[in-house]
Amino acid sequence: MKAIQINRFGGPDVLVPTEVAKPIPRPGEVLIRVRAAGVNFFETLQRQDRYGATPVLPMIPGVEIAGTIAALGEGAPDLQLGDRVAVPLFAAGIFSGGYAEYVAVDAAHVVALPPALPFETAAALMVQGLTAQHLVRQAQPAGKTVLITAAAGGVGSLLVQTAKHAGAKRIIATASSQDKLALARDLGADESVNYTQPHWGAQVQAATGGAGPDIVYESAGGDVTATSLKLLAPLGRIILFGALNTRDPGLSMAQLQNLIFNNQSLAGFSLLPLLTPVGVKADLATLFGLAERGELTVLSGGRFPLEQAAAAHEALESRRSTGKIVLVP
Ligand SMILES: NC(=O)c1ccc[n+]([C@@H]2O[C@H](COP(=O)([O-])OP(=O)(O)OC[C@H]3O[C@@H](n4cnc5c(N)ncnc54)[C@H](OP(=O)(O)O)[C@@H]3O)[C@@H](O)[C@H]2O)c1
Repeated sequence: MKAIQINRFGGPDVLVPTEVAKPIPRPGEVLIRVRAAGVNFFETLQRQDRYGATPVLPMIPGVEIAGTIAALGEGAPDLQLGDRVAVPLFAAGIFSGGYAEYVAVDAAHVVALPPALPFETAAALMVQGLTAQHLVRQAQPAGKTVLITAAAGGVGSLLVQTAKHAGAKRIIATASSQDKLALARDLGADESVNYTQPHWGAQVQAATGGAGPDIVYESAGGDVTATSLKLLAPLGRIILFGALNTRDPGLSMAQLQNLIFNNQSLAGFSLLPLLTPVGVKADLATLFGLAERGELTVLSGGRFPLEQAAAAHEALESRRSTGKIVLVP
C-alpha cells in the first residue's frame, strides 16, 4: 500500500510517498481503508523534530483517520465490513500511521460515523473539534468577551462557533488576511482584527470598549502572547494552546507583576491529558451530530491526494489555508 514516510527531519520534501506492507489486523483489530487523513499543524513541527519527543524514524505521520472497515481481525466486536468509521488514533496514544491507504487498529478505538457525514468532515472534528470543545470547558466563555487568535484555522474556525454556542458575549477574532477575517465573522465573530498589522492591540482594545478581553484563546505565540497579556481585562485569563507558541513572548518582570496585581492567569492547555475513552466517543458523537445537522460549520482547507502530503504541509505552513486540510488516499 501507499503511505507517506519520513526518513529524516526537515522541510515538506521529507514527506515521501513510499510503498509499505499493508497491515494485517490482529485479533481484536480492524483494518481501515482510509478515505480522509487529517493534517494538523503540530505535524509540520513533528516533521522538523520541533515538537515534543523526537519521533523514531522512519515514521508515517498522521493521528486521525476516517474511512471504511476493510477487514476484521478475529473477535473484532460489533463491526461489519464496509462500516463508515472515524479513528482518533491520538486519543489511543498512537501518534503515527494516519497518512496511509490502510491502518490496522484496535476495534475499541473506532467511532461510528453518521450516514450523511463526509469523511473529510469527520477528519476535521477529531483533533481540532475536541480541542475547541475542551478549550471552552477549560475557560468557559458564557457572558464573557473573548479573543480568539488564528480564528480562521482548523481549531480557530471551530472555536469561534463553539464559544458562541457556549454563550460568549462578544467574540473578537484575529487572523492574517482580510479573507480570513471575513470568514471568522461569517462563523460568528462580532469583530475581527488583522494581528499582522501594527497597532492591532489598539483595535482589539477599542472593540472591547477599552475593557480588554476576559479570555484569550491563544495559539500564535511570540508578540501575540505578549500583546494579549497587555490587553487582558482584570481577572482575565489567557489559555495558551498552540504548538506555534514556541516563539519567545519576551515577558518582562513588570508584565508578570501586572498579572499579579490584576488577578490574571496565564494557563497552558493540552488536549491529550483531558481525554478519556468514554469521553472521546461521547464528544465525537456530539460533534459529528452537530456537523451533520448543519449546526457546526466545518471549513474545508483543501483535499490533497495522499502523494501530495508535502503540498498540504506547505499550504498549512504558508498561512494560506483556512479550516481543515485533509489527505485523500
Ligand atoms: N494544545 C493542544 O492540545 C492542541 C491541540 C490541537 C491543536 N493545537 C494547536 O492549535 C493551533 C492550530 O492548529 P491547527 O492544526 O488548527 O492549525 P491552523 O490553525 O489550521 O493553522 C495554523 C494557523 O496559525 C496561524 N499562524 C500564526 N502564526 C503563524 C506562523 N508563524 N506560521 C504559520 N501559521 C501561523 C495561521 O493563521 P493566520 O494566517 O490567520 O495567522 C495559520 O493558518 C496550532 O498551534 C496547534 O499546534 C494545540
